[in-house]
Amino acid sequence: MNDGGIGDITRKVTAATGGRRMRRLRQNDWSRRLVRETQLRTDDLIWPIFVREGAGAAEPVSSMPGVDRLSVEGCVEAARRAEDLGIPVVALFPYTQAADRDERGSAALDPNNLVCSATRAIKAAVPGVGVLCDVALDPYTSHGHDGIVRDGRIVNDETVEILCRQALVQAEAGCDIIGPSDMMDGRVACIRDALDGAGLTDTMIMAYAAKYASAFYGPFRDAVGSSGALKGDKRTYQMDFGNSDEALREARQDIAEGADMIMVKPGLPYLDILSRLARELDLPTFAYQTSGEYSMIMAAAERGFIDAEAAMMETLGAYKRAGASGVLSYFAPRAAERLRS
Ligand code: PBG
Repeated sequence: MNDGGIGDITRKVTAATGGRRMRRLRQNDWSRRLVRETQLRTDDLIWPIFVREGAGAAEPVSSMPGVDRLSVEGCVEAARRAEDLGIPVVALFPYTQAADRDERGSAALDPNNLVCSATRAIKAAVPGVGVLCDVALDPYTSHGHDGIVRDGRIVNDETVEILCRQALVQAEAGCDIIGPSDMMDGRVACIRDALDGAGLTDTMIMAYAAKYASAFYGPFRDAVGSSGALKGDKRTYQMDFGNSDEALREARQDIAEGADMIMVKPGLPYLDILSRLARELDLPTFAYQTSGEYSMIMAAAERGFIDAEAAMMETLGAYKRAGASGVLSYFAPRAAERLRS
């Protein structure tokens, strides 16, 4: 029993810290809240939704626990839920079965395809919620690639010509934000030009500026019906995961071509890229918490290894801390509910 001992340690700790004890501010919930540097808001969330043919019940995506493919009417209900929760935007992705796919992804140009029908239905019923539509051919091609394949190669310019038409069809259906996720060169400029030429000067472009060839898209490909279809990989157009400077070049290029917002994808394994782009460029920068990231958390939670709810808030918070303006996440409605409570 020797107070002098504690006093000795106290003197040492005080000397070591210079008196600045970091734990002082962490003592209470109120003081932690008071000094929190970044915070996820419902306004930061974009909710990706899968649309399917036909009416009736939601159809679970087996590789994404808690995520369903919805009918067009189901999408309208989801948009209503988004509005109630305060989620600003929903992003639409179509499930296309093999029989409706072809070499050129023709269904992408059908003004009555699933995405366009869902967009029209949402904008008619819930005009206050933004609609984002992906531009890329992979949900529609028999080979699962984002572009046209010739002699085993994905051809750039012919693909861009089709992507422009896809963007126009979606914008004419009422889509607010065009999201080119195809990674072809020059597509942002060509799409902007096509939109402007059709008088659609208000349609926004969120460019998938730094999109990496990634293992984290696996469950998404299952959700849209591409996984069985995809031949080979996407490494001739999506980025190499070893590169960081190149992400800056890609993003600068998309900004110069007319992007209103940029995106980094996947999210968590690329927080360094997100942080760099958000700090070095001056455009709203978003992160995509991909299907693989979502399913890793859900699968681990199902096995009791982690707490899904806590991991959800922590990962979404990580994007904000890294500098994201917002996040596309399959957790969006759950996170919004959590933020409200
Ligand atoms: C289509 C596209 C993909 C994703 C979004 N748009 C898949 C891919 O590029 O293969 C992935 C989304 C996710 O994994 O959640 N080009």
